[in-house]
Amino acid sequence: MKINRRHFLIGTSALLALQDGFASEPSLAHDPRRPQFHLLPAKNWMNDPNGPIYFNGKYHMFFQYNPLAAVWGDMSWYHSVSPDMIHWTHLPIAFTPTPGGPDSFGCFSGSAIGVGGRVYQVYTGTRVASKELATIRDGEDKIQESQCLAYSDDPRLIQWTKLPQPIIPLPPTGMQVTGFRDPSAWKQGDWYYMTVGSGVANVGGCVLLYRSKQIEVPTRWEYLHALTGGEWNGHKTANPCDDGEMWECPDFFALDGGHVLIYSTLGKVFWQSGELDTAAMKFHVSKTGELDLGAFYAPKTQLDAHGRRILWGWIQERRSQDAMRAAGWSGMMSLPRVLNLDSNGTLRVTPLPELDQLRDGALPVKASGGCTLPDASGELLCAGVPGSSLELTMSEGTTELLRVRYLPEKHTMIADGKEFPLENGDAPVVHAFVDGSVIEVILGQRIGYTKRFYFEGSVAPGIDVRVAGSSGIKLSAWKIKAISSNRLTTQAS
Ligand code: FRU
Repeated sequence: MKINRRHFLIGTSALLALQDGFASEPSLAHDPRRPQFHLLPAKNWMNDPNGPIYFNGKYHMFFQYNPLAAVWGDMSWYHSVSPDMIHWTHLPIAFTPTPGGPDSFGCFSGSAIGVGGRVYQVYTGTRVASKELATIRDGEDKIQESQCLAYSDDPRLIQWTKLPQPIIPLPPTGMQVTGFRDPSAWKQGDWYYMTVGSGVANVGGCVLLYRSKQIEVPTRWEYLHALTGGEWNGHKTANPCDDGEMWECPDFFALDGGHVLIYSTLGKVFWQSGELDTAAMKFHVSKTGELDLGAFYAPKTQLDAHGRRILWGWIQERRSQDAMRAAGWSGMMSLPRVLNLDSNGTLRVTPLPELDQLRDGALPVKASGGCTLPDASGELLCAGVPGSSLELTMSEGTTELLRVRYLPEKHTMIADGKEFPLENGDAPVVHAFVDGSVIEVILGQRIGYTKRFYFEGSVAPGIDVRVAGSSGIKLSAWKIKAISSNRLTTQAS
């Protein structure tokens, strides 16, 4: 969470709600900056993916949503459903803040767990509280966070029931936390375990671990210890998420024989891989890295129908609040990325292979190396050769949008100046999806680089792609089919 998001909300959301909405539905449907094959709500602001789950043969995605405006506020859970994680239909909003309830200020992020025919969502309820009870201290010192639960026995997951009281009302006794949110639960043996994002001032962010034999009984959740934690960077900021004192959105899961933790802090997303000691419930970290070098935050994973671990992230805007309000929408979901852990404990990232069904014909590649993506849209696969240099640029007219290079002498990829060293055996592959105002790149099948770009006017420009390098580079490019006829502006009813 960014402090300006919350400050913005306090006291001003009603006014903004009146100002918003001047981007009418037809203009949203024809806004060429609105994506054609990424998930986003019909209008308004979205942020983190919440509680994605494969249930009853369908993929359900929820995410942080402001029903009133294209800026952060009044956090509710939007709901969309898909047969394949690619094509989406919007459903009614799953839950909104309950006046007088523990989530009266907002239903913050959380995660799903299916138990038989029932789906539980654990999430963070926030309410305005006294300074003593406040767990958010980066601004007004008055937001209390507690872990809440909602469940659904509805096969379509449209009807939800919230428990009136939190299942974990307060942080561990005696701990002065820098935040207390974004729960994620799983079952292991006879126990349910839950992680909560947190941290301690001047010490660093951490992940709190709880357990309970019953998921929905308040007060039964027992605090065990911090699963893992990190160091404060020493530079005090108003928002503890900006200096590493608070870790948001932890997601902990088994993968390919090891365990992986994902968390967000310092405006970035990190992963850790290692071993879980299941007797002591301690996580021994052996390797760490970043998940994306760009506009990608607060991701969450799920298992798909085939047991693959799928990563979803919030693609942030890089434009002003005024521009977001004028556009009438803000943010989108990343494309699904498949995660794997290799035998070295390194996280591998690839776009969901089934995305290739969106390919709508190959685009011509010039002999000199390069192509044009019409309508600011398309997919690119550029395979370089280890030991040979590679440079790929994308531009719109004279404006350069992105430059990726591979330096063979350092076996390193550089995306807009950000260096990413490859490991032995990694190939310098650039896989990119361009969609209206986003370029989502996966570098070396290892790390994302999500880049936003904006152009003026009502017509999407062509994007020129140029590839140069020493030898053996293979470039393929495709047009991409839209996943809806109206840029997903059909409202949930
Ligand atoms: C991450 C985050 C979460 C919080 C949510 C609120 O972007 O700050 O920690 O639950 O957004 O919208």
